[in-house]
Amino acid sequence: MYVVETNNLVKKFGQLTAVNRISLKINEGEIFGLLGPNGAGKTTTLSMLATLQKPTSGNAFVGGHSIITEPLKVRKSIGMVFQEPSSDDELTGKDNLYLHALLYGVPKHLISGRIKEALELVDLTNRQNEMVRRYSGGMRRRLELARGLLHEPKILFLDEPTLGLDPQTRVHIWTYIKKLVKERKVTIIVTTHYMEEADELCDRVAIVDRGRIVALDAPAKLKRALGGDVIRLKVSNPNMAALKKLKFVKRIKKDGDFISLSVNDSGTHLQEILKKAGKVESVESRSPTLDDVFLHYTGREIRDTEAEGGWFERMIASRSR
Ligand SMILES: Nc1ncnc2c1ncn2[C@@H]1O[C@H](COP(=O)(O)OP(=O)(O)O)[C@@H](O)[C@H]1O
Ligand SMILES: [Mg+2]
Repeated sequence: MYVVETNNLVKKFGQLTAVNRISLKINEGEIFGLLGPNGAGKTTTLSMLATLQKPTSGNAFVGGHSIITEPLKVRKSIGMVFQEPSSDDELTGKDNLYLHALLYGVPKHLISGRIKEALELVDLTNRQNEMVRRYSGGMRRRLELARGLLHEPKILFLDEPTLGLDPQTRVHIWTYIKKLVKERKVTIIVTTHYMEEADELCDRVAIVDRGRIVALDAPAKLKRALGGDVIRLKVSNPNMAALKKLKFVKRIKKDGDFISLSVNDSGTHLQEILKKAGKVESVESRSPTLDDVFLHYTGREIRDTEAEGGWFERMIASRSR
């Protein structure tokens, strides 16, 4: 049995199809990622799985229960950590957890033990009696993770768990998520628009764009499937036409003074590329990343789609000005 299974899940908002026939099968103990730009339909997918929104059509089973006919059973088996931080600033970390345990109906005699364990797992024991407003961004996320665990769910949904955090703190949060899977044997479904996050954290990734899954596999396999290397050249006036004619060049993209080419057998062909390119100032060759995978399947870079941004990122950006 799959821990989560969705069959052609669809969510429409008026004319807009936010989630378009998503079918997934997720195994126990997996960290499964939904990777895609803002507006791809990740949050909407999670909220249907968490029974917060009803699908327009299709069905899904979470922990063996139908999200349509058994929403209460689904809710009991999952924990959810939302994209927007939702802890109370004016309470201590510990009191936030206590409140949440009550809301989730954790039996009174178990609450303090569960809180203690959860705080230890995310390394907040020493700071539990401080007001959350004094917490750093990373500490808040850790508190939210702890909160999602209090009723001991076997399935945890994390919506952009490191959104807006600096790279170091992000790596830190990944460590806690991995620890959770190891120590608690939970299955995790995590959404992200950070390529490195999907790459580092997830056993398998579904790349989502405009409501559809465009690719699904282990990150290493997705990258390997692209084949070849990516060569990046700095050229002031590149001869694009000549480069495009080379048959071993699979993809080519111009980005300011740089051009990136996906090339099979790059070693063999480098000389010819350099000869055709024009006046080359620098050359760099690397293996494909998930960015390249995204570009391959969508024709766009995930960064290009970031311009609109989410409200949370705008808020973070305006704060740090
Ligand atoms: N309640 C809603 N009403 C109307 N449109 C919505 C609603 N929720 C999400 N959308 C739209 O659905 C699309 C997918 O949104 P979302 O699932 O939040 O994407 P993601 O989490 O991948 O950024 C977006 O175009 C968004 O504007
Ligand atoms: Mg979202």
